[in-house]
Amino acid sequence: MPSLLKSIVCLDCGHSMPVDPLPTHCAACGSVWMDAQYDYEQAAALWKAGLAERATTIWRYEELLPLLDSTSIVSMGEGWTPLTRTEGLGRELGHEHLFIKDERQSPTGSFKDRQGSLTISYLRQKGIREIVMASTGNKAAAYAAFCARAGIRLWIFLTSTVPSEKLRELALYGAEVVKITGTYDQAKKVAQDFAARRSLYYDAGAESIPGREAFKTVAFEIAEQLGRLDPDGKGRWRAPDWYVQAVSGGVGPLGVWKGFQELLKMGLIDRLPKLAIVQSEGCAPMAAAWRFQLETADPVVPHTRIAVLATGSPGRSYGFLRAACQETGGTIISVSDGEAFRAMRRLARVEGYSMEPAASVAFAGMDKLIAEGVIKPDERVIVNCSGHTFPAEKHILEDQYVLDLQFGEGGTSASHTQLEDGLGAALERLDEQVTTIVVIDDNPQDSRLIRRLLQAHKNYRVFEVNNPLDGLDLVRQRKPDLVVLDLTMPDMDGFTVLESFKADPEVGHIPVVVVSAKTLTAADRARLEGRAESLWQKGGFNTRELVEHVVRTLGGDLPDSSDPLTEASAGTVATASKQAIAESAPAQQPVREIVVIDDERRDARLIRRLLEATGRYQVHEAYTGEDGWRMVQAHKPDLVVLDLLLPDIAGEDLLERLKRDEHTRDIPVVILTAKDVTAREREKLLGKMLSLFEKANLDRQALIDYVDETLSEE
Ligand SMILES: Cc1ncc(COP(=O)(O)O)c(C=O)c1O
Ligand SMILES: [Zn+2]
Repeated sequence: MPSLLKSIVCLDCGHSMPVDPLPTHCAACGSVWMDAQYDYEQAAALWKAGLAERATTIWRYEELLPLLDSTSIVSMGEGWTPLTRTEGLGRELGHEHLFIKDERQSPTGSFKDRQGSLTISYLRQKGIREIVMASTGNKAAAYAAFCARAGIRLWIFLTSTVPSEKLRELALYGAEVVKITGTYDQAKKVAQDFAARRSLYYDAGAESIPGREAFKTVAFEIAEQLGRLDPDGKGRWRAPDWYVQAVSGGVGPLGVWKGFQELLKMGLIDRLPKLAIVQSEGCAPMAAAWRFQLETADPVVPHTRIAVLATGSPGRSYGFLRAACQETGGTIISVSDGEAFRAMRRLARVEGYSMEPAASVAFAGMDKLIAEGVIKPDERVIVNCSGHTFPAEKHILEDQYVLDLQFGEGGTSASHTQLEDGLGAALERLDEQVTTIVVIDDNPQDSRLIRRLLQAHKNYRVFEVNNPLDGLDLVRQRKPDLVVLDLTMPDMDGFTVLESFKADPEVGHIPVVVVSAKTLTAADRARLEGRAESLWQKGGFNTRELVEHVVRTLGGDLPDSSDPLTEASAGTVATASKQAIAESAPAQQPVREIVVIDDERRDARLIRRLLEATGRYQVHEAYTGEDGWRMVQAHKPDLVVLDLLLPDIAGEDLLERLKRDEHTRDIPVVILTAKDVTAREREKLLGKMLSLFEKANLDRQALIDYVDETLSEE
């Protein structure tokens, strides 16, 4: 049965318009936001009788799609993707009703194929031969594939953040690819101008009728599939309690929401789900507006590594999604890149799903909502796994993930025995190569140094992680043969990391070697006792001994004991003795701890490097006042370096707070600021701070000398 499209209605003034061709703006008020309306009664009668014989593509729901001539359909198996109940994820989150709508299983690997199929079919119906679009990546791949099939010429404008692998795929489909060094919103503008100059069709964003209409099919499928999963439901369609999706411009959930509304109108479901819209923290204009209950979302300049979600200016999509969330108790939130990457690794580890970072944003959002109790344990949740990662992007995986097994010289001319010998040697090497060590140290210089030391002698696979949470994740995923662990790290200290490892039956047996700059108290030692294999004091051990210890713990020996070990030339992990854990004598030269609180990460890092290079200090960085406050409370450092211009609290107020708290009152504070400090302000700070350095004319050596002097007096 062909489309039951009846009219196009303006969403602003209600004006009704004919359906062929689809109007690009309202004839009465000029608005570009219009909605397609169908004969729902007739569609309901057909769908209630069952769709068993229908195509397993989006075209299964042809009656409610706006394509009048079905001979124009361009299809390659888009839609009708699996709806799968989670296994490991549900167990880890303690939630039994989590389902994944697996949009990776689409022709070009993302949910955008639905839009590609419908839009390109419509353009073919109209006889359009050349089009222009802008994209953050996946819509481009979908359009390029469907255009290739339909013989339509396609111009794609992308930002330079789109990974080169994706660009190559587009070129392979024959699309013209234009890379813009700028934001996605700028790329859209350039594309629109280009199309206008050449009088070419420009594919609109969330306001495009075929775009939103295409994504309705996600809702239709979910309701139909949930009905099938329910053994006593007699195949009756069902709505979930929650629908979770990662959002950039928002066309996806706008369409899904309309799909559920239509099903409700047709009596196929009995209620609407709650929407959970998730943005990447570095580009979250909608989440910010939602939090402050604003009617419109202010554009932002994106700062996210998840390029696919970098729509800084959501326009009116926000207003529509906000209304949808308000109607049923949904929400709009954001997650950090780190949270998204962790969710991505977890899904691969516990479910066997490899998804792209943009999709993992939805999973990280779901984690958060479950943890906060917003999503209840008995609610049915569908999360859209909106895209595949292929190939995995560089910042997620490093090259060591591929094991390269090479045979000896021989080559093709080698005899059989030579080949056998070569294989033996290669397999022996492989044994070593699959011996895996994870180094968890928040200081990348130290982790690199430890990796180099080990790899200078053995072909081990060494993974470095500079953040404890990622470390936990990686150890659970890789189940390495040994872990090298630092003790003082932000977010979670090494003691806690060690305790979680040892409490986990899957990884509890893995030996953990502690390499740390921390001066240990008796209580610290007690916490390590029985858990850590050995303890090495940074700045106080012989590197050769460490390597030997690791090799022996792993059941090997060093090939040539006279081999001169490159005594670590740079870095802090050099020279002298290993400490027994139970030994109570303090290290000879205690390393002092310093907390730097500065929202300019570059500045914080610079100060850290300056001070750590002396070998006398261990420096922790905080980028907000609140984080700084927490870090000072946690570490009770010997000194604080404080910037006055912080994003959340004024540096002066933080200083005040530090001085009022009995635990932190005596910690000396050095002010380092870019702010012009007036004489009056300086006077107010006097007595609370130790000294003030201005960033603009900072004498680095003077700062170090000053810190040295202050701390040696104590
Ligand atoms: C994999 C993936 N997930 C989510 C999104 C966000 O989708 P929307 O355009 O509906 O905001 C995109 C957008 O390109 C995407 O490619
Ligand atoms: Zn109008």
